[in-house]
Amino acid sequence: MSFPANFTWGVATASYQIEGTPTVAGGGASVWDMFCRKPGAIWDGSSGAVACDHVNRFRGDVALMKELGIGGYRFSISWPRVMPEGTGVINQQGLDFYDALTDALLEAGIQPWATLYHWDLPYELYCRGGWLNRDSADWFAEYTQIIVDRLSDRVTNWMTLNEPQCFIGLGLSSGQHAPGLKLDWPDVLRAGHHALLAHGRAVQVIRARARQPPTIGYAPVGAVSVPASNSEADIAAARTAMFSISEKGFWNNTWWLDPVFFGRYPEDGLRIFGDAAPPVRAGDMETIAQPLDFFGANIYNGQAYCAGEDGQPRRVEHPQGTARNMYHWPITPEALYWGPRFYYERYKQPIVITENGTATSDWLALDGTIPDAQRIDFLQRYLRELGRAHADGVDIRAYFQWSFMDNFEWQEGYKQRFGLIYVDYATQQRIPKDSAHWYTQVVATNGAGL
Ligand code: GCO
Repeated sequence: MSFPANFTWGVATASYQIEGTPTVAGGGASVWDMFCRKPGAIWDGSSGAVACDHVNRFRGDVALMKELGIGGYRFSISWPRVMPEGTGVINQQGLDFYDALTDALLEAGIQPWATLYHWDLPYELYCRGGWLNRDSADWFAEYTQIIVDRLSDRVTNWMTLNEPQCFIGLGLSSGQHAPGLKLDWPDVLRAGHHALLAHGRAVQVIRARARQPPTIGYAPVGAVSVPASNSEADIAAARTAMFSISEKGFWNNTWWLDPVFFGRYPEDGLRIFGDAAPPVRAGDMETIAQPLDFFGANIYNGQAYCAGEDGQPRRVEHPQGTARNMYHWPITPEALYWGPRFYYERYKQPIVITENGTATSDWLALDGTIPDAQRIDFLQRYLRELGRAHADGVDIRAYFQWSFMDNFEWQEGYKQRFGLIYVDYATQQRIPKDSAHWYTQVVATNGAGL
C-alpha cells in the first residue's frame, strides 16, 4: 500500500468540542453555549462548557500528538473566543491561546491546519441575524483578518468553513443543531448563500494578507455515492447520484461545491428550489468562487447506487445486518475510494480528507488499556481504500483522522467517542487507545503496512 512521499498524516478536532466555553476567559458566548441550555437539545443534557478543557491542557495534548508522530493537526478557531461580540472588540487572551497553540505545534514538528469556522457562531451575531444577515460575510472577513494578521507568519494551511450542510441545514432548517431554528427554504438558502459569500471573502483576505504563502481549502460534508458493483453502468449511476439534486434538501454536494469551484449554482438545484433560491447580487458568484488549493472533504460513509431500468440512478439500501458504528452509521470503506475519485474527477483539485473516523463503545479495560479493535479495523479498511484511490491516480495530500481525542459530539453530548485518545471526563485524564498505538505505526511507515 503506497501513499505519496510527502503525505500528511494528521488528526482533527474543533474548538467548541474540546476547548471549554470561551466565556470564562474573556471570550463571548457562541450559539452552542445558548443551544445547550435548551431543554432536550442535547442527548445527555451536557454542553461544551468544559469539554476536554483543552484551553488549559493544550500543551499536554500537543505532547500526545507528538507521540503519534503526526505531521499535521487540524483544529478550529473559536470566533467568539477571539471576538466576544463577533466584530470590533478583540479578546487578546483568546488570540494569545491560538498563538501559543501554534508555537507548541511547530515546536513539536506538527503543521497547524486551521479551520476558521466550525459552527461556534458568536451569539451576539446570531442576535443580529446571524447567517441570515448579508453583513455576515463582512463580519467573517473582519474576523479572518484578525486571525491572519496574528497567525499567518506561522500558519499556512487554512480551511474557511466546516460543513455548511450542517451549520445551515441542521442549524437553520431541521433545528437539530445550534441555533435550533426551523426556517423555510428561502431563508435557509439565503443564509447558505451568505455563508458561501463569507467563504469567498475569507479566501480574499487570506490571499491579500497572509505573511507566508497560504494553502487554502474548505471542509464540506462529503456526501458520497458508491456504485453497487464495478460495472461501468453502476459507476456512472453513482457519479450521477453524487452530483445531482433530486429533492429539496441540504444533504448534497453540488449546491455547496459548484458555487465555490465553478462560480454557479447547479441547474437541477435551481430548478428544484425554484423561487426559494437565494437572491444573487452582481459579483456574488465571483466572490464565492475564489481559487482554492485543495479539495477538503469530511467522509464517513457512502450510499450505494446502481443503474436503474429507466437509466436513472437507483438507490441500493444497505443489506440487513450491515456493520454500523455507535452512531448507527454504516461502515462503507469504499466511500474513501469513490469519494476522493469522484471529487477529483469533477473539481480537479488535490484531495485532503479533512475528517474520517468512527464512534465505538470504548471503556477502560481491567488491564488499564482502552481496546478499540473496531476502530482499528475501520481505519485500516478505509485507509486501504484511500491508498487504492491514490494508486488509481487520485492526487491525495493529507488525511485527518476524526478525532484526536473523545470530545463533545454536538447533539449527542458525550455519548459518542471518536477519539484515538480516551478522555475520562471526570478527571480529564487522557489515555491512548489501542488505535493510537496502531495509528502511530501507520504514520511512521507512511501507510506501508496497511
Ligand atoms: C462533522 C463535524 C464533526 C463531528 C464528526 C462526528 O463532520 O459532523 O465536522 O464536528 O464531530 O464528524 O460526527
